[in-house]
Amino acid sequence: MYFQQFYLTCLAQASYMIGSQGEAVVVDPQRDVDLYLDEAKAQGLAIKHVIETHLHADFVSGHREIAERVGAKIYLGAAAGAKFPHVAVHDGDEIAVGKLRLRFLDTPGHTPESMCILITDTETSDRPTKLLSGDTLFIGDVGRPDLSPSHTPRQLAGLLYDSLRTKIMTLPDDVEVYPAHGAGSLCGKNLSPERWSTIGKQKQFNYALQPMSRDAFVDMLTAELPDRPEYFAEDAAINRDGPALLTAIAAAPLDPAAAQEKITAGAVALDTRPASVFGAGHLPGSINIGLGGQYASWAATVIGLHKPLVIVAEDDEKVEESVMRLARVGIENVVGYLRGGVEAWERAGYPLQTVPQISVHQLQEHRRPNPEEWQVLDVRRLGEYRATHMTGAIHQPLDTLAKALEAGPLPGVDPAKPVAVHCKGGYRSSAACGLLQAHGYREVYNVTGGLDAWVASGLPVDAAPTACAQSQKT
Ligand SMILES: [Fe+2]
Repeated sequence: MYFQQFYLTCLAQASYMIGSQGEAVVVDPQRDVDLYLDEAKAQGLAIKHVIETHLHADFVSGHREIAERVGAKIYLGAAAGAKFPHVAVHDGDEIAVGKLRLRFLDTPGHTPESMCILITDTETSDRPTKLLSGDTLFIGDVGRPDLSPSHTPRQLAGLLYDSLRTKIMTLPDDVEVYPAHGAGSLCGKNLSPERWSTIGKQKQFNYALQPMSRDAFVDMLTAELPDRPEYFAEDAAINRDGPALLTAIAAAPLDPAAAQEKITAGAVALDTRPASVFGAGHLPGSINIGLGGQYASWAATVIGLHKPLVIVAEDDEKVEESVMRLARVGIENVVGYLRGGVEAWERAGYPLQTVPQISVHQLQEHRRPNPEEWQVLDVRRLGEYRATHMTGAIHQPLDTLAKALEAGPLPGVDPAKPVAVHCKGGYRSSAACGLLQAHGYREVYNVTGGLDAWVASGLPVDAAPTACAQSQKT
C-alpha cells in the first residue's frame, strides 16, 4: 500500500493519497492540486477517486479540480446534498483501490454528512489497519458540533456521541487514526499537534472518548465553543455547490498611484510581511496578516471573503504565495498588488504609518508607574485568556475584533490613551494593531513575544478573568 499524508500548516489541514496496484484515491484535497498529481505521477499511480469526508467549512476543497483534471469520481456522504456529479455514499458502502478496500462509516456529529473511511489492505490481511477519521475524531479532540444550519449543536453533539461509541471506539485498538486537521484548526477546540495516533491511544487519552453519559458529553461539547468565523458557512456552501476551477489567479501589478486609487475606492491593503517589518512602516489603514502564520484562515476571519484586496508583500514570489493561500479559503477578490512594495510607495512620496514594537519589559516599565494610562489588550481566544493573562489585561479576541470595532469603541479601551496589544507570540496582535489604527486608535503598540515572553520573564499574571470586554458584552 502507498500511503501519504499531506499537511498544510496554514490551514492545519491534512489530506491523504492512498494507492495500490497503480490506482490511487485522494481524500480531503486542498484546493490547488498539483502536489497530488505530481506525486501520483512520481509513484506511477492513476488517481481514480476523490473522497470528501464532509463538506469542509474552513477551506475550499480541490475535489472538483482533481475530478476535472484527471477524470476521477467524487464520493461524499449522501446527506451532503452536493450539487455536482458525485457518488453519494451510505454507511457500509465500499470501494476498491487496487488491493485496498475502503469502507465508508456514516459518522454524523461534526456535520450531518460526516463519513470516516476504514482501510483494509487485502494483500496483507483481512483486518482494517487505518481509519481516515475526517473531523469526527481528531488527535486529542473531536469535531465541533455547531457548523450545521439544519441541526442544533446539541443534536449534533448527541449524534457524535453515538458515532464515536458505535462506529469508532468499537474498532481494534491498533487501527491507526488519521484526521483531517491538527493543532490550530477551528474545527475543534483543542487539537493535539500530533499528526496521527491509534484507536487504543485515543481511547486512553482523548477526553471525548472517556466514559460518560450522552448528556454529559453533549453538555461538555457544546460548552464554550470557539467563535465560528463567518466565512465557515460560505466555504461549506462553496464545497456543496462545487468550487469554481482554479484558473490563472495571478494578481495584477499596481504602481503606488493605482494602489492608492483602489484603496480610496474601498480596497483593503493586506500586508503579508512579518509583524516587525509591518511595524517599521506600512500603508496607512493596512491590515497585517503575515505569511508566517495561519495566514489564510486569519485573512478570511478578519477581512471576510469578498472585500477587494491589494496585496503588499516583499517580492513577487511572496505575492504569488499570498494569492494562492487566499484562494484556498475562497478569497478571490484580489484586485492587485503593490509593485515594488512599501519602498516604491515611500519613494513615490506617500505617507507611512508605524506600529512601535515594545518588549514585555518596556511594557512593564511603562505600566508600573502609570497603570491607568497604559491599556493592555489581549487578543487571544477566550480559552487562552482564561488559562492565564496579564494582570489588568482587557480581552477581545482577534476573531471578533473587526466586528467589535465596527460597532464602536471597544468597551474599556480609551482611544485617546496608549494601547499595548498582545497575543501569544506577536502574530495576531500585529493584525489587531492594524485594525485598531484603521479605527482611529492612534497610539498602538505591538508587544513582541506576547504572553509567552511575559510569562517567561516572570511578570504578573492572573488565571481568572478581570476586566473583560467580551464578558461585559455577553
Ligand atoms: Fe470540518
